Amino acid sequence: MRLLKLAIQAMQNAHVPYSRFKVGAAIKSNRNKFYSGCNVENAAYPQSLCAEAGVVSAMVVGGCKLISEVLIVSDSKSLIVPCGACRQKLLEFSNSETKVLLAKTSGVENILTLHELLPFSFDKTYLND
Ligand code: THU
Repeated sequence: MRLLKLAIQAMQNAHVPYSRFKVGAAIKSNRNKFYSGCNVENAAYPQSLCAEAGVVSAMVVGGCKLISEVLIVSDSKSLIVPCGACRQKLLEFSNSETKVLLAKTSGVENILTLHELLPFSFDKTYLND
C-alpha cells in the first residue's frame, strides 16, 4: 500500500533525540497526489513538530487543499492516534469523505473520519457568521 510505504519511509527519518518516538504520516490528496511527513523534535521541546503538521505543510506547499486519505504510523506496540492539535490541523483540509487511517508498520488497523476524531469542532464556518 503506497500510503503506508511512504509514511514508514518518512518515519525512518524522524528527528526524535528526546522522545525516541518516531511517527510518520502520509496524505493522498483529492487530486491523487501523495505527500509525507515525520516528527521533528527540538531541544526547546515545545518547538517540536508532529508528523501530521509536516505532511499537512507539504501538501499545501504542493498546491493541494483537500485530504482524501491521511495515514499515521509509528513503530510502537500500541496503535497511534493523532494528538488534539493535529486533529484540528487535519480538519482544516478535510471533508466528510476524508479518511484517517491509523496504522502499525504491519498494516492499517483502524479507519476513522475527522468528525469521529474531533466532534463539535471549530472550523471556518464559524468565521462567516
Ligand atoms: N507525535 C506525532 O508526531 N504525532 C502525533 O499525533 C502524536 C505525537 C510526536 C510528537 C513527539 O515528537 C513524539 O511523537 C512524542 O510525543
